[in-house]
Amino acid sequence: MGIPHVLAIPYTAQGHVLLLMELALCLVKSGIKVTFVNTEFDHKRVIESLSGEGNVPDMMHLVSIPDGLESWDDRNDLGKLTKTIFRVMPAKLEALMEKINESETDKITCLITDESMGWALEIAKKMGVRAVAFWPAAAAVSALELNIPKLIHDGIIDSSGSVLKNQMVQLSPTILAMDSAHFVWACIGDPTTQGIIFYVILKNIRTLKLADWIICNSSNELETSVFNSYPEMLPIGPLLSSNRLGKLVGSYGPKDLDCLVWLDKQPVQSVIYVAFGSITVFDQTQFQELALGLERTNMPFLWVVRRNLTAETDNAYPKGFKERIQGRGRLSSWAPQQPVLSHPSVACFLGHCGWNSTVEGVSNGVPFLCWPYFADQFTNRSYICDDWKVGLGLEKDGNGIIAQGEVKNKIEQLVTVKGYKERALDLKAKVMNSLREDGCSGKNFNNFVKWIKDD
Ligand SMILES: *[C@@H]1O[C@H](CO)[C@@H](O)[C@H](O)[C@H]1NC(C)=O
Ligand SMILES: *[C@@H]1O[C@H](CO)[C@@H](O)[C@H](O)[C@H]1NC(C)=O
Ligand SMILES: *[C@@H]1O[C@H](CO)[C@@H](O)[C@H](O)[C@H]1NC(C)=O
Ligand SMILES: *[C@@H]1O[C@H](CO)[C@@H](O)[C@H](O)[C@H]1NC(C)=O
Ligand SMILES: *[C@@H]1O[C@H](CO)[C@@H](O)[C@H](O)[C@H]1NC(C)=O
Repeated sequence: MGIPHVLAIPYTAQGHVLLLMELALCLVKSGIKVTFVNTEFDHKRVIESLSGEGNVPDMMHLVSIPDGLESWDDRNDLGKLTKTIFRVMPAKLEALMEKINESETDKITCLITDESMGWALEIAKKMGVRAVAFWPAAAAVSALELNIPKLIHDGIIDSSGSVLKNQMVQLSPTILAMDSAHFVWACIGDPTTQGIIFYVILKNIRTLKLADWIICNSSNELETSVFNSYPEMLPIGPLLSSNRLGKLVGSYGPKDLDCLVWLDKQPVQSVIYVAFGSITVFDQTQFQELALGLERTNMPFLWVVRRNLTAETDNAYPKGFKERIQGRGRLSSWAPQQPVLSHPSVACFLGHCGWNSTVEGVSNGVPFLCWPYFADQFTNRSYICDDWKVGLGLEKDGNGIIAQGEVKNKIEQLVTVKGYKERALDLKAKVMNSLREDGCSGKNFNNFVKWIKDD
């Protein structure tokens, strides 16, 4: 018998490709051979970002199949992309599997795919190969999707995903309630795109039943109630990004190091780290209230101000702000988030609490101030504030603004009231212990590897 051989099929979006690659690298490290199947379009970009195939370990092979579009077609046109994926990729994948089966001594033992590529599970079953679905984000979101048929039955959403009743929805007695207005697919805005995404989700939850394993990049310590209610989902994470390949590991330039050098000079647990990801845009008033709120704390802060965070960044600051905060506040157009969050000078993290940032903050024992932005991020906020109790949410005033006083008060409350930092450190310890050989995620991962090898 040959070496255990896994075929990995990511969803075609750069973020998802990188995540499945991370998982694939963990398997390679455990002595499993991986053939990684990208679309031709993604393959080219992956090879470019790795600066050649030389950086890929021997046990990992990068191959590609067409996605059905021409190289010049717009892949942001989700409708077109989805249709051609369903039309073209299954047959191409089947052909690839047959070819590998005929030409290689190491037969495919198992197929692993992103949960959003459910059709690949069907192909695996058709070809008599074991199938695994991987969910890279919060298990709560997957649980919500599995509940869609019930939500339709209960008249909360219609069969196209549109919300009919605005209400709190309780998936199980212990899972935090979610506001139906914040369902992921219902927040897209454009009805055509919503329809396509909803259709794909429906298809995926049907094919998910074919999976022999459903593994999640989350941990029992973070989402206890979800994993208790859905025992078929197994947490193996959070797999942190230290497993990235080549350049994707992030080589830090001198500009980034500056910001770490600045942190070195600040007292332990004194700095407010402020960062909003790449999509948030503030209007002038909100931008200024945030600036003044930070100023009024009298604490050092590191604020990542992207050039497009507000319409006119150069004139956007309150009058005299930059002079007054000199030496204490550092404004930076980018910061290496992981090293910043793990720096001992950082006291708290103010941001929109996307799932990545949330897990990164948790893994470093940093308490949060949650700034609402995207509707679906409210769930992260309820995890942070209501479940784990390691942060506070910022509230809008009557004018829909988060005022400077609110910013100042909540920051002060977070750093002075006893308990937040202690609970954050406690949660960090639990999550990290879970990843050890004898922890829950560690054990699940090892059993998973054993199952792959035991064919
Ligand atoms: C989360 O992190 C992954 C890996 O770094 C990245 O590819 C993805 O785009 C991130 N997601 C968001 C919403 O930032
Ligand atoms: C691989 O080939 C063997 C015969 O050599 C066949 O029995 C098996 O079904 C094939 N599997 C796939 C996935 O094509
Ligand atoms: C801001 O610019 C970054 C690149 O610098 C881009 O990725 C992001 O989409 C932009 N955001 C908005 C809201 O325009
Ligand atoms: C957290 O927010 C992100 C958006 O950044 C969203 O994709 C994810 O579903 C949210 N997680 C939960 C558990 O709601
Ligand atoms: C797992 O989640 C963490 C936090 O969101 C992220 O940084 C990491 O890249 C993810 N890894 C995989 C393999 O999905």
